[in-house]
Amino acid sequence: MTKISTESYKGVRDFYPEDKFVQNYIFKKIRQSVELFGYVEYDASILESAELYKAKSGEEIVNEQTYTFTDRGDREVTLRPEMTPTIARMIAARQKELVFPLRWYSVPNLFRYEKPQRGRLREHWQLNVDLFGVESNEADTEVISIAHKILRDFGATEDMFVVKINNRKIIDALYEHFALTEDERYRTSKLIDKKNKVTQEVYTQALGEIIGEDKATELERILSSNERLLAHLGLDNAAAKEIVDLIELLSQRGVTNVEFSPTLMRGFDYYTGIVFEVFDTHPDNRRSLFGGGRYNDLLDIFGAQKIPAVGFGMGDVSVKDFLETHSLLPAYTHSAQVHICTLTTLQRPSAFSLADTLRADGLNVSVDISGKKVGDQLKLASKQHIPFVIIIGEDEVKSQIYSIKNLDTGEEQKLKAEEIIQLLSKSHA
Ligand code: HAM
Repeated sequence: MTKISTESYKGVRDFYPEDKFVQNYIFKKIRQSVELFGYVEYDASILESAELYKAKSGEEIVNEQTYTFTDRGDREVTLRPEMTPTIARMIAARQKELVFPLRWYSVPNLFRYEKPQRGRLREHWQLNVDLFGVESNEADTEVISIAHKILRDFGATEDMFVVKINNRKIIDALYEHFALTEDERYRTSKLIDKKNKVTQEVYTQALGEIIGEDKATELERILSSNERLLAHLGLDNAAAKEIVDLIELLSQRGVTNVEFSPTLMRGFDYYTGIVFEVFDTHPDNRRSLFGGGRYNDLLDIFGAQKIPAVGFGMGDVSVKDFLETHSLLPAYTHSAQVHICTLTTLQRPSAFSLADTLRADGLNVSVDISGKKVGDQLKLASKQHIPFVIIIGEDEVKSQIYSIKNLDTGEEQKLKAEEIIQLLSKSHA
């Protein structure tokens, strides 16, 4: 018989308890941070109709990165590679009943057929935070402030990350200036988006091939300096003004690690204005942690009325790398707060009864039924990172006073059940 491999599918993760602990920690913290701003959680199925992504997600994601199959009823089905088309679909479906502005968040798992590498996998979980129904840049300010607050709530300081922002309308104004055709604009945007992945020579040559050498040289010259770019656009240019105002509004909210980055494109076709990404400043972790922007026209694909929208996605893989790199993750602890051991099997009934008393007060308790000697029972608890143990022998059964040991400090106390409850409730608070 051929043996089946125990390895997981390429680019996806198994979550052993220590891994799940980290992921749960991340999810719990992000939910808390986002709900502080009054956002409510929504969800949807992993399966979506393939056509949902064809209209506006962009060629790369649809042609190269989706997991698409035909179901038994001949429908083309895609495992969602992102959540934005789904939220747009859900909002378009109930547009008349929903009350705007609408603040929604979700933590879906997403699937992209990418080359697995540091920070990029084929399945990841992504916090999505989106605000629908506000045209003004106060909405952009709010969602960027939330991204900032999430990292600050994890204990990060502003020097550990940077928020890079751009405005799609700026590049559009340049394309207008150079009189580029639709096709040239599309290809140039895709090329700029990939700029960091190729050498300068390859980039310059490719740009020349798309728009001609003269225009390429001039476009590169303008984009190489923010001052030159802003001077070129002129102070009364609306797109430039949006960026300047946004930086000012963010600074009023205490978000000061912001950089204007005119070559930040974002891969999706649906963005219409401000786009942004958050990067770790540590050189070991160069992938973006958050990516988002304004997408005012996405509801068009459903024939629905336009609703202005802005939001972002934050991936669990890159955030975990960030927290690890900056030593911001807590140490693993078991969900059981105490493990009850017995000298012999005769004390098991007392152990079960004590466990029930403690559980009635909400404490997480495991009882040793391994059949091992008491020394080995203690080792088991210690190996599993359970913080406390109780050992029950004949004397404890009679006196109902138990010896409880803190496995971290070695400290031992003799306590009644009520006192144990007090001690453990405090240590868990
Ligand atoms: P995105 O830039 O494709 O945006 O993804 C957002 C974040 O998800 C990235 O910054 C990264 O942390 C994480 N991420 C993306 N792909 C992977 C992957 N293959 N493996 C691990 N992590 C990944 C979007 O998806 C937009 N729909 C976000 C959005 C929401 N825009 C507006 N609202």
